[in-house]
Amino acid sequence: MGYAKIRSVALQGVVGQVIVVEADVAPGLPSLVVSGLPDAALTEARDRIRAAVHNSGATWPQQRITVNLLPAHVRKHGSGFDTAMALAVLAAGANLPTGLLVDAVVLGELGLDGTLRPVRGVLPAVLAASRAGAGLVVVPPGNIEEARLVPDVRVRAADCLGRIIGFVHGTESLLDPPPAPPAAQRAPADLADVLGQERGRRAVELAAAGRHHLAMFGPPGAGKTMLAQRLPGILPELTEEESIEATALHSVAGALPPGGGLIRRAPLQAPHHTASIAALVGGGSGIAKPGAISLAHHGVLFLDECAEFAASALNALREPLEHGEVRLRRVHGETVYPANAQLVLAANPCPCAKPGGDAMCQCPPGVRIRYRSRLSGPLLDRVDLQVDVVAVRSAALFDTEPVESSATVAARVVRARQAATHRWAPHARSNGDVPATVLRGRRFRLPRTVLQPLATAMDRGQLSARGLDRTTRVAWTVADLDGRDVPGRDDVYEALEMRSRSGR
Ligand SMILES: Nc1ncnc2c1ncn2[C@@H]1O[C@H](COP(=O)(O)OP(=O)(O)OP(=O)(O)O)[C@@H](O)[C@H]1O
Ligand SMILES: [Mg+2]
Ligand SMILES: [Zn+2]
Repeated sequence: MGYAKIRSVALQGVVGQVIVVEADVAPGLPSLVVSGLPDAALTEARDRIRAAVHNSGATWPQQRITVNLLPAHVRKHGSGFDTAMALAVLAAGANLPTGLLVDAVVLGELGLDGTLRPVRGVLPAVLAASRAGAGLVVVPPGNIEEARLVPDVRVRAADCLGRIIGFVHGTESLLDPPPAPPAAQRAPADLADVLGQERGRRAVELAAAGRHHLAMFGPPGAGKTMLAQRLPGILPELTEEESIEATALHSVAGALPPGGGLIRRAPLQAPHHTASIAALVGGGSGIAKPGAISLAHHGVLFLDECAEFAASALNALREPLEHGEVRLRRVHGETVYPANAQLVLAANPCPCAKPGGDAMCQCPPGVRIRYRSRLSGPLLDRVDLQVDVVAVRSAALFDTEPVESSATVAARVVRARQAATHRWAPHARSNGDVPATVLRGRRFRLPRTVLQPLATAMDRGQLSARGLDRTTRVAWTVADLDGRDVPGRDDVYEALEMRSRSGR
């Protein structure tokens, strides 16, 4: 008979919050009531923890047990509270001493046999524990590598509930396995592999420097996929904060490779065109899984063969791209995940996809137009760089001239980014993010003479007002890469050159 509490962590999207699991055991008919806004998984937890306690050799109190999770207003999803609930019940009703757990946070799902099973979102959970001043975090062994990514907090593993019971009695110790050897990092694909293809290479460099969304149209084998896969390798390294955010999202999705450490490079996500909407934007029961667009946060979302994606799938990406976050509406409220991704689209110009390109195309004109229109509209509207890439000529493939490597290009990209970040502060961090009002505002408006080529293109009906803003953004990036303070007319010409017929 009595009362006890054990701390654990609930996740709100990608942010952890320390919660208290309290248990009260009173005389009466044996029962277990769980309260504190639990979802279906918590109800299931009742049977799990009872079985786990039995199978750990401990005695389940045959009394009236009430378990409550505080604070009540915090939504609590998932199975990560199992272990804390079992310990609180044993402490309240079976004289389990909890002195060694007063400043501890306990995470882990329980198996029926009493083993601790890994949970998702351990990185944000341990970050929350650390912020709350926890002196010890107990996690399942499968989560310890990830938990250790958080510095300055004592992390220990327990393989089963019995071990924690032994630990609080002073007869057993928690586990502190040696760190796993760091997994071999595969070097990202290098731009040096892409021969010829000046236009495509330039487009990728501009996309990286300005953080512009990029669309590439071209015949099969032109190297579109190759180019897109090399974009992350020339993007600046993530800042500490970005790195933690990206890693936390992968953690919540259960997508962190073991031994991989923090994600420091811009991540690349390339979902297949048959991917479900949930796979693209997130969803699922319990703790909603972040989708590809959130796993591409601070990185690149690459939609290869994008004309093959269902219209509903492309539509689902629109709002997240616009707002930099995904709102997943669920029965018990909303889960929000960051989703600030750079979009790269690649497509053949038409369904017949002849290697020779347009000249060899056998599609009726109506079919071509319909194919392209599937992409146009809302999604393509936000893509600053829309380029046609042509297949490389054989000469380029046999050429022995050295080609610039990703490292060389990345150095230019970093300088260009710094210039842009400095210029647009506090409105934007890159040319791709600059709101039209700032772009056209008094301070940064380009002189009429410089914009002349765009005015001409507009008069000829080759450029829309939106296209004008997009081209101007790219012109700023051309200037930044060249180390010039303001774009000149040549930069505007190049930006205009970088637009495909489809994108005007
Ligand atoms: N510029 C290039 N330099 C070197 N190899 C290239 C180049 N372009 C294409 N290739 C070769 O052709 C292969 C196909 O390229 P990739 O898959 O990138 O083409 P794609 O444009 O995406 O074609 P598809 O429309 O069929 O998807 C590459 O794996 C590479 O071996
Ligand atoms: Mg391809
Ligand atoms: Zn065709």
